[in-house]
Amino acid sequence: MSIIQATNLHRTFGKEPLITHVLRGVDVTVQQGEFVAIMGKSGAGKSTLMYQLSVLDTPSSGQLFVDGTDVIALSEKERTSFRLNTLGYVFQDYALVPDLSARENVMMPLLMRGELWQDASAKADRAIDDVGLAGKYQNLPAELSGGEQQRIAIARAIASTPKIIFADEPTANLDTVSSKQIIELLSNLNRTTSQTVVMVTHEREYALGANRVLHMEDGLIVQEEILRPL
Ligand SMILES: Nc1ncnc2c1ncn2[C@@H]1O[C@H](COP(=O)(O)OP(=O)(O)OP(=O)(O)O)[C@@H](O)[C@H]1O
Ligand SMILES: [Mg+2]
Repeated sequence: MSIIQATNLHRTFGKEPLITHVLRGVDVTVQQGEFVAIMGKSGAGKSTLMYQLSVLDTPSSGQLFVDGTDVIALSEKERTSFRLNTLGYVFQDYALVPDLSARENVMMPLLMRGELWQDASAKADRAIDDVGLAGKYQNLPAELSGGEQQRIAIARAIASTPKIIFADEPTANLDTVSSKQIIELLSNLNRTTSQTVVMVTHEREYALGANRVLHMEDGLIVQEEILRPL
């Protein structure tokens, strides 16, 4: 079953005559439980594509169904609730709130979708345990290494058991050892829980755990490489 179905996605910025055509008719299908890596040179449009697929931005034209929902047709309020209930995010810069503890950071999206404090707290601790950071619940982001901060960001993404996790260069700011741990974590999550993962990476090595690698060039997917059929 396909969980993402994008057809002829275009994304332009600005107005004529200064228009930038960043996505130029992208078709993507992601299957439920699939691990898809997106690769390509800087400026190819990888992040822009991720923003569309993860409902953080709206395409200029095209069709996009995520988990069976026509996300382009949603109101802003519906999009917010769709994101909180269905999607998880891991960013390059972790995007943790500096004044909140690891536990509170992980609780945040759960509280935002109306969960009770105690339930959110219990789920947060379980997610933090799952990423191998048991005992670091009270640490502030500044009291964690970069790799640990990214693991907390993954805990935050998985705590709400989203249907899809989007990770845009999750290892960009990490050393090799931490990077490998992050990739392991995402691959394990995919294998053991059939979690759908869509990840952008510059490193070929980190894409090798994926089922499929999409290669982007100049706003288009120019090659699709199947590594491990689902
Ligand atoms: N809001 C915007 N307004 C104008 N141009 C934009 C905007 N966002 C992205 N672009 C342009 O779209 C192109 C693709 O950007 P994008 O961030 O998607 O690339 P990328 O493949 O993720 O690159 P990198 O590997 O460096 O992260 C770039 O040329 C960028 O300048
Ligand atoms: Mg990018």
